[in-house]
Amino acid sequence: MKIRAVILANERSEEHLLWIRACQKYGEAVEWRVVNLTCGEWLEEVEKEPFDILLAKPGGMTSIFKQLYDERIFILGFVKQYKIFPSPGEIFIYENKRFLAYWLKANGIPHPVTDVFYNEAEAAEFLKKTGYPIVAKINIGASGSGVVVLHTEAEALRYLRQVFSRRGAYRRHGPNMRSGNRGRRALYYLLHPKALMPKLSIYRTVGSDPQKNFVIFQEYIPHDFEWRVVRTGDSFFAHKKLKAGEKASGSLLKSYCNPPLSLLDFVKKLTDRHAFHSQAIDLFESGRGYLVNEMQCIFGQSDPHQMEVDGNPGRYRFTGGHWLFEPGDFNGNECYDARIEWVIEKHGSAES
Ligand SMILES: Nc1ncnc2c1ncn2[C@@H]1O[C@H](COP(=O)(O)OP(=O)(O)O)[C@@H](O)[C@H]1O
Ligand SMILES: [Mg+2]
Repeated sequence: MKIRAVILANERSEEHLLWIRACQKYGEAVEWRVVNLTCGEWLEEVEKEPFDILLAKPGGMTSIFKQLYDERIFILGFVKQYKIFPSPGEIFIYENKRFLAYWLKANGIPHPVTDVFYNEAEAAEFLKKTGYPIVAKINIGASGSGVVVLHTEAEALRYLRQVFSRRGAYRRHGPNMRSGNRGRRALYYLLHPKALMPKLSIYRTVGSDPQKNFVIFQEYIPHDFEWRVVRTGDSFFAHKKLKAGEKASGSLLKSYCNPPLSLLDFVKKLTDRHAFHSQAIDLFESGRGYLVNEMQCIFGQSDPHQMEVDGNPGRYRFTGGHWLFEPGDFNGNECYDARIEWVIEKHGSAES
């Protein structure tokens, strides 16, 4: 029997296409249909025909659609008890830096100390007492688009006033000038001017969703790189994301050196405990060990692979009490193939 999957599309018509591609590729084991989770009759549409699992593709552009997706996942996962991949927990902490900070703290997972304020006076009081620099972040947004390093109290107070004003927090909603691919991208849009329209529409949408009336401040962690550790199913990968300017995120500069096994241990323990099987976790190395900066159940991939060991692409798996490296190509279709393989493997074994 084939696994019956429902792909839960988000507000953007193209974002679930990699799920479709993966389902097509594994068509002998999976049959699938797509439901737009943002439509009015979303629940009726999901339940219209029987299914075994829901395949989610949460969006990360605006807070309104983020909230929509989370609420409906909550109903489907917790009220209706349907199987969802990635899991509801992975979806809720995705693209929600404020909520991720609460979650990390509540679970005792090491991370940069993070303070969230909804009261301007309370935040100003905090800014008087804290040391500098500190980092300010917006809640939703990737590639360093809403992250600023504040070096003095005066600078931090200006930031605070802006967030609690009509303008809201700064968020870049144009091209990322720190990206290592800048030249290649400019050339691409010169040769394919039509491709620019969706990009401009994204910039407009993002620009229409400024963050107001709450701030996220974070302890500044000096670093030259972030570790990016990926877990899909039981396969692990890691590489370094290098900084461009003050930020590693969005630089697209990578270093494929051999990852330390202690890093894989750290991520395995964390993801095992919460049964997370679709994760890209970004970590800082600090005086107090690894610190989790971000956790993403959906993540971009700019190279064909996520890890090299001694120059060979491949994956790590923990078998027989040891980390075993297996050379090969395990990140095809931006890791969606590996996700669907995991769904097939798990669902198959649950039935037998
Ligand atoms: N607490 C911090 N201390 C120092 N630099 C940070 C801190 N948090 C983030 N950064 C830098 O800013 C970049 C973007 O921040 P991040 O939290 O990853 O947001 P984004 O969602 O934009 O990737 C990171 O890649 C890192 O280089
Ligand atoms: Mg990041």
